[in-house]
Amino acid sequence: MKKNSNPAYIVNGGKPLYGSVKIGGAKNAATKQMVASLLTDDEVKLTNVPQIGDVDATIELLKSLGVKIAHKNDEVIINSKSIKNGDVASALSRKNRIPILLIGPLLHRFGEARIPMLGGCKIGARPVDIHLDGFKKMGAEIIYEEDCYTVKAKELQAAMIELPFPSVGATENLMLAAVRAKGTTTISNAAIEPEIMDTAKLLQSMGAIINLEANRTWVIEGVESLSGAEHNVIHDRIEAASFGITAAITGGEVFVEGAEQDHLLTFLNALRRVGVPFTIKPNGIVFGSAKKYSPITLETDVHPGFMTDWQQPFVMLLTQSDGVSIVHETIFEDRFGYTEALKKMGATIQLHSDCLGSRQCRYQHQNFKHSCIIVGATPLTAAEITIPDLRAGFSYILAALMAKGKSTVTGVEHIERGYENLIEKLKGLGADIKRA
Ligand code: UD1
Repeated sequence: MKKNSNPAYIVNGGKPLYGSVKIGGAKNAATKQMVASLLTDDEVKLTNVPQIGDVDATIELLKSLGVKIAHKNDEVIINSKSIKNGDVASALSRKNRIPILLIGPLLHRFGEARIPMLGGCKIGARPVDIHLDGFKKMGAEIIYEEDCYTVKAKELQAAMIELPFPSVGATENLMLAAVRAKGTTTISNAAIEPEIMDTAKLLQSMGAIINLEANRTWVIEGVESLSGAEHNVIHDRIEAASFGITAAITGGEVFVEGAEQDHLLTFLNALRRVGVPFTIKPNGIVFGSAKKYSPITLETDVHPGFMTDWQQPFVMLLTQSDGVSIVHETIFEDRFGYTEALKKMGATIQLHSDCLGSRQCRYQHQNFKHSCIIVGATPLTAAEITIPDLRAGFSYILAALMAKGKSTVTGVEHIERGYENLIEKLKGLGADIKRA
């Protein structure tokens, strides 16, 4: 059958969603853990791996280096003994942000890694200076030529690294390097997201000595070698939150199996302030809906703050709150571009470059439109819209589910990078949605 080069989701919105949906493994843990398995010659078995585009892209990337991978359903078995070289192909690097994490494992094996410019969602400049400064502190030499980083180090040395910002990717990158470096590395002002903790758990199972101490500080004692392990990836808290909101905005009730309260604490507090009912169960969370919602002021932040990847679906919810809500995005400078299409569907949204809300962030006085005012409640009308990036993608699906009539959503390749069986899961809740 000929592959459709511009697939779209056709959604007939306006129907309340009811039922139960099962959340998959976390994209932002599974893909990193696949890279972590390159730190050993033994087999690493990961279960609860989501079946998404970014996992397929990571498999393709690792296979291109000579790694052997068996992939069936949610199970991935990785054996890196046969890895050939540390040279990442340019086409594979542009798909997402995973290749930069190969630096540590490749340096330990070959003393050299070549990583071309990265891909990933266009939500800001997304530099990698924090990653590279950390590697320099660990004794690596870095050359940047023709859109490619060449990193060299015969042996990585432990270092005391204080990050200027708790970057998720930089923390993971330096963690993967430190577990086999010589000596004890501290990474302070680091990120402590649940997905990073989950990767630390895999590393510990592989034989690493790794600890999270006070004040966001990872302390890692380098070991000579690591061994194989089995690890069950944590559930995806972004997918869980996204499905939680489907119930609230369509006027339904959805049991999100696998939603974990301790990873969603801040999200649930925000829902409560808006007036969305929820009930915690032993194996998930029931999300409900109400006739009226309240406006709130919200600020995205590093964990344990309100996650930037919850921002887009949450803005959709706030279009249905009576009054003025404010969302201040403090993690990425350009993460509101997606709201333009929502305005065409009837949402009242204004972007500002001031830090609106309770505090100033590092984007103050820089002309980045990183604050958003939403005035609701506004009904939405069906439209043809094109998804600009992964997380914005789910908010467009929410908009289409909410709007009465037929919406056509293109750019679905973005959403398929990160959401598993989205169409089937939404259909299971009663949504009228198909891929064309
Ligand atoms: C990861 C997640 C993404 C999430 C984000 C923040 C993955 C694959 N993606 O992205 O879903 O939204 O964390 O929770 O796990 N920065 C620098 N220099 C650097 C590194 C980062 O200035 O060297 C800046 C970025 O431009 C951004 C901020 O720090 O403004 C946060 O980035 P970071 O935490 O690194 O996000 P990612 O790891 O790219």
